[in-house]
Amino acid sequence: MKRDFLQITDFSRDELFALFALCAELKAKTKARQQHHLLKGQTLAMLFQKPSTRTRVSFEVGMYQLGGHALYLSPAEIGLGSRESVADVARVLSRFNDGIMARVFGHAIVEELAETASVPVINGLSDLTHPCQVLGDLFTACEHKGRYENFKVAYIGDGNNVTNSWMNLAALLHLDLRIACPPGYEPNMNLLEKAKAAKKSDISIYHDPFAAIRDADIVYTDVWASMGQEDEAAARKKIFAPYQVNKKLLTAAANDCIVEHCLPAHRGDEITDEVIDGAHSVVFDQAENRLHIQKAILVTLMR
Ligand code: CP
Ligand code: NVA
Repeated sequence: MKRDFLQITDFSRDELFALFALCAELKAKTKARQQHHLLKGQTLAMLFQKPSTRTRVSFEVGMYQLGGHALYLSPAEIGLGSRESVADVARVLSRFNDGIMARVFGHAIVEELAETASVPVINGLSDLTHPCQVLGDLFTACEHKGRYENFKVAYIGDGNNVTNSWMNLAALLHLDLRIACPPGYEPNMNLLEKAKAAKKSDISIYHDPFAAIRDADIVYTDVWASMGQEDEAAARKKIFAPYQVNKKLLTAAANDCIVEHCLPAHRGDEITDEVIDGAHSVVFDQAENRLHIQKAILVTLMR
């Protein structure tokens, strides 16, 4: 049976640790320039409804390094749901390819792709979640801190797709996850309830960023207006101003904290230059690890 990766919770806890082990192995091989053609001759169709730098490049380079090939399919070409139905696109791409990666607006689109494709479907970001990102982010945290669990994580800003994926992660392993957002910008309540019901983690919503960040090991932020919310950007800039990750806020976190951001960053809005370029920041390690974690995901699903 084929397997998809739409949410972090599609993996079990044991599978998650196996994935991280494979990621470390593939990263070491890549650094040593050792050939690892585990997907020789295979192809990945990459469907994009939104722009991308990291996701597109890391999947494309990753498939090449695994001995396969990736095809970039722009929004204009495919017209998911307008030129052709989502289901028909999934059926057709399954006849040519060994896997599909999709970046979409509505999460229902990746779900429909997964239901109708006969090959594995990977969520490369939807309005609901960004699972590849947050797995890479935890792998990065482990490289710096030597563990995958028992972190105090302060997510400061918009309760968005990245926040939702942190909550999914908290359903599988223990985190003290504190989310600070303005009232009305909380993460998805259904995923919050599910993560709480798993009883693995402590998850709290704050409206005071200073309370959320106290003694945090991982300080995380993301843009205040996600892709598709551009028309709200000016209003959000005012609402989110107290949630900027700056030097003053960071003094309340643990002295040895790491600062993460999925990028692209709006410098001077959700994060200052001083912090993103400062000693605590690991944002470019995170960007690089998108490559390694996604290669592990591709091998796990397609081999
Ligand atoms: N973090 C991330 O997914 O970046 P892109 O939008 O550039 O792919
Ligand atoms: N929350 C952001 C993440 C970008 C990688 C967005 O959806 O635009």
